[in-house]
Amino acid sequence: MCGIIGYIGKHIAKDILLEGLRRMEYRGYDSTGIATWEESRFSLIRSAGPLDALEEKVSREKLFGTAGIGHTRWATHGGVTERNAHPHRSSDGKIILVHNGVVENFAAIREFLCARGYTSSSETDSEVLANLIAYHYAKESHRVQCSRFLESVRRALFHVRGTYGLVVLCADFPTEMVGARSSSPLILGIGKDEYFLASDVAGFVSRTRDVIFLNDNELVHVHGDDFSIISLNREQIKAVRQAVDWDLSTVELNGYKHFMLKEIFDQPNALNNAMRGRFSADGSTAHFGGLQMSPRELRKIDRVIFCGCGTAWCACLEAEYLIERFARIPVEVEYASEFRYRNAPMDRNSLVLVVSQSGETLDTLAAMREAQRKGFRVLAITNGIGSSIAREADGGIYQHAGPEIGVASTKAFTSQLCLAAMLALYLGRLRDLSFEDGVAIAEALRQLPQQVLEVLKLNDHIRRIASRYQHCHDMLFLGRQSMFPIALEGALKLKEVSYIHAEGYASAEMKHGPIALITEECPAFFLACDGITLEKTFSNMHEIRARGAPIIAVVTDDCQIPAALVDDIIAIPRAHPSVQPILAAIPVQLFAYHMGTLRGHNVDKPRNLAKSVTVE
Ligand code: M6R
Repeated sequence: MCGIIGYIGKHIAKDILLEGLRRMEYRGYDSTGIATWEESRFSLIRSAGPLDALEEKVSREKLFGTAGIGHTRWATHGGVTERNAHPHRSSDGKIILVHNGVVENFAAIREFLCARGYTSSSETDSEVLANLIAYHYAKESHRVQCSRFLESVRRALFHVRGTYGLVVLCADFPTEMVGARSSSPLILGIGKDEYFLASDVAGFVSRTRDVIFLNDNELVHVHGDDFSIISLNREQIKAVRQAVDWDLSTVELNGYKHFMLKEIFDQPNALNNAMRGRFSADGSTAHFGGLQMSPRELRKIDRVIFCGCGTAWCACLEAEYLIERFARIPVEVEYASEFRYRNAPMDRNSLVLVVSQSGETLDTLAAMREAQRKGFRVLAITNGIGSSIAREADGGIYQHAGPEIGVASTKAFTSQLCLAAMLALYLGRLRDLSFEDGVAIAEALRQLPQQVLEVLKLNDHIRRIASRYQHCHDMLFLGRQSMFPIALEGALKLKEVSYIHAEGYASAEMKHGPIALITEECPAFFLACDGITLEKTFSNMHEIRARGAPIIAVVTDDCQIPAALVDDIIAIPRAHPSVQPILAAIPVQLFAYHMGTLRGHNVDKPRNLAKSVTVE
């Protein structure tokens, strides 16, 4: 939910921390702060509001310290104020930290510490962590110096219920840094004479790509020129160093005005990456290296349960249409947050598939753990390499879409749809999908990046359309069959970045209630690319037309739509039904983008949102 960073090295920390926070700002942007060690004390600078405000404050100070921590916040406990911004310092001044997560038992800990003289100056749950570590630090005074700091963090964490990614500094050990994680990401970056801890590789990718992804219940201690990793139970951990294959351009705007637009235009590339090396030599099916299930095991599956949140949930719903149609396996789609507590009766031969761009969404992670606890095998489709979901899943498929920085998901969504189509192809070919039908789907997928490029050429046309609707207050997104999930995603996207109230419905459902909303003031955005139900969709358009609402329609370029039926047409290439939804998704993304920017919003950082939601 928040972005945290820590640095120890030979360079001026404040610049490195601010750059890291800039790259992780998508994780939260309510308030920000840094603390650096300046000769004999911590210098703490915090600010409510976006990073620019902090940068302005920092520029007025002389900060030369080479160790420090930083934070960009998405508020959970306590309002958006400077006092609640991180870093938080213990009341005895010894410990200072940044925290991403939620301390569920913070009230009890605060009471305990208050009785022992530790005071709080914020409303946050995080500040109690600083005091709790300081309390244990004071108790550990008998210990040999080198382990005292680490040991105090370790002991404190035993009493914490909740989630955390933490970076901690101690006034008595200014060249050391301790990090810890439990259900919130934390990555160690190993540079030349410098170390980083951050919630995301993006926080330090300009300086090193040599990383270690920490696991839950692990602590890392950076001391001098070395580091060590231990478990909460004090076992030494032999960690695996990895090289991330990102380059800096993937986390920079590269001439685009917004990451959202850059990522929409990156979709041909992201789709190619999702498909690379995943088709069989005879071109009739797909294969995936990481499923960890044999074809024989997969044939035994008689139900697939998909779980996700937000846009990833919409991708799950599309997967239902695709897998049921092409693989003939019954599919159910669940909101991860509901599935976790619903205790749904499940069949032994069910397979659970979770979908998450970040791989860190707590609701999805919790749903996955619940299914695993019951003994089900869980596969994950995720873009988050080394993420919690990727590591805990029993197998899965990486999206390889590259970092998605814009808070509104775009390229990750179409990449998930692409993988859902490939999975439908693979599972279908393990069952009744013929060689010929398999070749047709594989061929359609191969054509897809080129067809996406064609759709992207409609950008200016879609901007002009958006300019005519930018002042509306409500909008309906309607689609049938495989276009229904795209209608839902269209409404979600519009809400997120333009703050216009929007609802997505299956077109035929509209007349069962939502039609009451239809006035000249409430435009309808139709996804009319499903061939089988096209005539019925035209009927739904007539019903809206008769009530005076404007209509925008995404249709295929061979569609004979009566001109009088619509106000604005967006014609996209006709494609195989397995990939048509992907092409239809792009106009809704562009439409939302332009509506948001025309209304003057920062579409990369929509109000109240954060990229990765690591609270329940
Ligand atoms: O990282 P995830 O895919 O698990 O995230 C799930 C949702 O939080 C996410 O899709 C959210 O709805 C986006 N803001 C959509 O644009």
